[in-house]
Amino acid sequence: MSDLASSEQYNYKVVRQFAIMTIVWGIIGMAVGVTIAAQLAWPVLNFDLPWFSFGRLRPLHTNAVIFAFGGSALFATSYYVVQRTCYTSLFSPRLASFTFWGWQAIILAAIITLPLGYTSSKEYAELEWPIDLLIGAVWVSYAVVFFGTIVKRKVKHIYVANWFYGGFIITVAVLHIFNSMALPVGPLKSYSMYSGVQDAMIQWWYGHNAVGFFLTAGFLGIMYYFIPKQANRPVYSYRLSVVHFWALSFTYIWAGPHHLHFTALPDWTQSLGMVMSLILLAPSWGGMINGIMTLSGSWEKLRSDPILKFLIVSVSFYGMSTFEGPMMAIKTVNALSHYTDWTIGHVHSGALGWVAFISIGSMYYLIPRLFNREIYNTKLVETHFWIATIGVVLYIAAMWISGVMQGLMWRAINDDGTLTYSFVESVSAMHPFYVIRFLGGALFLTGMVIMAYNLAKTIAGAKPAVAEVPVPVAH
Ligand code: HEM
Ligand code: HEM
Repeated sequence: MSDLASSEQYNYKVVRQFAIMTIVWGIIGMAVGVTIAAQLAWPVLNFDLPWFSFGRLRPLHTNAVIFAFGGSALFATSYYVVQRTCYTSLFSPRLASFTFWGWQAIILAAIITLPLGYTSSKEYAELEWPIDLLIGAVWVSYAVVFFGTIVKRKVKHIYVANWFYGGFIITVAVLHIFNSMALPVGPLKSYSMYSGVQDAMIQWWYGHNAVGFFLTAGFLGIMYYFIPKQANRPVYSYRLSVVHFWALSFTYIWAGPHHLHFTALPDWTQSLGMVMSLILLAPSWGGMINGIMTLSGSWEKLRSDPILKFLIVSVSFYGMSTFEGPMMAIKTVNALSHYTDWTIGHVHSGALGWVAFISIGSMYYLIPRLFNREIYNTKLVETHFWIATIGVVLYIAAMWISGVMQGLMWRAINDDGTLTYSFVESVSAMHPFYVIRFLGGALFLTGMVIMAYNLAKTIAGAKPAVAEVPVPVAH
């Protein structure tokens, strides 16, 4: 393809808006994370205030980091990538603008209602029914903008990153709509349409695929565009990337019951969830290898380019958490790990190591380009990388140790069949690790603040970039 200019311009405005909010919500969501980490280490910090208590702030943390921070990164990058790879501007700029303001309104509604205690009590789907309706409207608009842009593309081929983004958009719509079906009984109170074990099954079909599609497929879209761009290399194996997409989509959707081992769920569904989780290792690692091997032949770039470090290390964490996940899905391992901090360690090796790192790397790539500027200080990016890496390692190592220790202490029994340790003994044994997790989280947050400073300096006084859509010409 060659790059002749056309009179059409890319819609960078909505990309800029989401990119900036990615950093703002990242700092807010992680600051809440550090706060609840401190509350777990020093419970006095709950201050006996209901709205400031751990139980209310925890869902605020998960909503803010997953949907506000992660969601904004996904909106920003998908809108950028779909335009650039389809050689066309976004379909319906007004609808795109609605998705931005609608998404911010949803987050604000979460910030108000969750501390006040309004919750549907479904994990990662806590928001009450009026907000759920707004999420539905924004998401359908997102789908219209994204697929509308694909339809008006100027090239025949649909680049693989768009397949991942498209799969993520469709699946999240289906998950959200079915899991949120509820009977409203007041302006901010509803009851789920499902009950008992069906409710649990639907909830974890949603929950696990929120991981698989919100926290994974969309971010793999980022991997397939931003790593080749930053490394200036083609994807290692394009054929593998297509197999990766179909294998991942087919397998993830079955694995939800691994969240419900040893419950009232029929045993065969638990076993199915376990087997599908083990199979999931293959597409996950295939994709991970494809991402990392994209650097093959130019590994030396990793030494000097801190943005590439963020991107490649994120894919390594992806590999690590997608090895750990299938192991934890094995029933005998889950008998030890479930209810313990091991799960929290697994979550954050995925959430910080994979999701946050790749979002950070893509924002360092994107934001200077959206303002036609060079990064203000590349050394600070390097500093950010190391602070963040030390932060994640402290966080997850502390949780692994604490988690395995908890599991072993809870199951230890004396010869006469009585428990060796009381619950309180296990709680006090966890304390040092909660302090280490707090320090790791505080380091990670410090890195985010450094990033915000560096990027604010980068764009200070800059005019928003205007870019003409090139005319694709086949060779
Ligand atoms: C500074 C960074 C962060 C800190 C200090 C932090 C801290 C915490 C803490 C203390 C909990 C509660 C653990 C418990 O209930 O025992 C938690 C839960 C959680 N966090 Fe974070 N977090 C951070 C970043 C993130 C990010 C970036 C994401 C996602 C992209 C994330 C996703 C989650 C999820 C999904 C849970 C619920 C885990 C579960 O129920 O198993 N966190 N976090
Ligand atoms: C092959 C891939 C993966 C498999 C098979 C897998 C499997 C598991 C298993 C077995 C659990 C523990 C369930 C329990 O005992 O309650 C779990 C929890 C979790 N995983 Fe993964 N995992 C994978 C990848 C990931 C990734 C990449 C992320 C994040 C980006 C992630 C996020 C989570 C979260 C948030 C939870 C906690 C859910 C909750 O209880 O609130 N997982 N995963």
